[in-house]
Amino acid sequence: MKKKFGILVVLLVLIFSLAACSGGESKEAGGSASNSGNEIQKITIKFSHVGYKGAPKTAGADKFKEILEEKSGGKIKVEVYPAGQLYGDREEMDALLANNVQIIMPSMTKLVVYNPQFQILDIPFLFKTREGFFDFWDNGKGKEMFSTLEDKGIVTLGLWEGGFKQLVNNRNPIKKPGDLKGLKFRIQAGDVLEKQFKVLGADASVIPYNETYTALQTGVVDSTENMLANIYSSKYQEVLKYLTISNHGRLDYPVITNTTFWNGLNDATKKVIQEAMDEATKYEREEAQKMSEDYLKQLSKVMKVNELTEEEKNVFIKQLQPLYDEFESVIGKDYMDAARGK
Ligand code: LMR
Repeated sequence: MKKKFGILVVLLVLIFSLAACSGGESKEAGGSASNSGNEIQKITIKFSHVGYKGAPKTAGADKFKEILEEKSGGKIKVEVYPAGQLYGDREEMDALLANNVQIIMPSMTKLVVYNPQFQILDIPFLFKTREGFFDFWDNGKGKEMFSTLEDKGIVTLGLWEGGFKQLVNNRNPIKKPGDLKGLKFRIQAGDVLEKQFKVLGADASVIPYNETYTALQTGVVDSTENMLANIYSSKYQEVLKYLTISNHGRLDYPVITNTTFWNGLNDATKKVIQEAMDEATKYEREEAQKMSEDYLKQLSKVMKVNELTEEEKNVFIKQLQPLYDEFESVIGKDYMDAARGK
C-alpha cells in the first residue's frame, strides 16, 4: 500500500513538472489551452534578444510588447529580455527549439546551420539598395527560403531591419583590399564571412556579439563589421578609430517562434500576435532607418570616416570573385540572380 502511494506521488510530481515546463502557456491558460476556441488565450511570451539600448531591434521588441498587450486586452503578456541577459547568440536557438523562450530574432546569418542559403545577405555587394533587399524578402524569392525553416520547427513571424554592414577597425582607413591585410576581424559564424575576410587577406574569428566589445577593447581582435546602429549602440567608437562606409552586406533579423508554441495557439491568438508583429515590423524598420542616419552623424564626430566610391567597390568585387564562384552553388544561381543589383 505504502509503495503504491509512493508511486502515485512520484507520478503526480512528474505530471506537474511536465505541465510547468510547457513554456508559453501561463497558469491561467491551464487545461483549457485547446487551440480550437475563438477567444484569445491567456499566455506569456518570453522574447529574448541580444540587442542593446539604442538598437532598432530593441525598440521593435518593446513596441511589439506594447502593441500585443494592448490588442489582446492584457490576455497576452510579453516579457522582453534584451542584451543577451537570458540567452546569448550561441544559446538562443536551442532555447527557442526547447520552447524555453517563444520568440527570438537572431541575425539571418545565424540561421545558416538550418539552411546555408541564408548566407545570401552576407554575399558582399550583392544587394544594392534597402528597398531592393526588402522586396526580395517580402515579395520575392526570399519568402520561399523562410518556409524551409518550418521542417526544423521554426516559424517566421516577420523580418526586422538592421541595415547595411560597414567596416570598423583600429589601424587605418579602408579604401582598397590591401588595407585589410593582417587585420583581425570579429565575425558572426558562416563560411561566406570567413571566406570574405580570407580572400581580402584578413583574419576572422567567430565571437558572440555580446562579447565583442571586450574582445576589441583587449585587442583579441582589432576590427569588425556591423551595421551603424550596432556599432553605435555597442559603443565600438570608444575602442576603434576608423569607420568605412562600405555597405558591403546586410545584417537583418527574422523574428521567429517555434512550432510547439505556435501550433498550440488557436486562430484568434495567432491572428492577434501576427497583427501586432506586422505593426511592430513597420515601426522597427522606420526606426532602423532613422537611427542609422542619426548614428552616422554621431559617429562622424568621434571616428575617422570614409565612404567607398563605386570605383573602389569595383576593386573589392574583382578580388572577391572566388567567393562568388564558390557560393553560387550553395545559395542557388536563381536566388543570386534575383538578388543581384537589387
Ligand atoms: C551580430 O552578431 O553582430 C549581430 O547578430 C548582433 C545582433 O544585432 O543581433
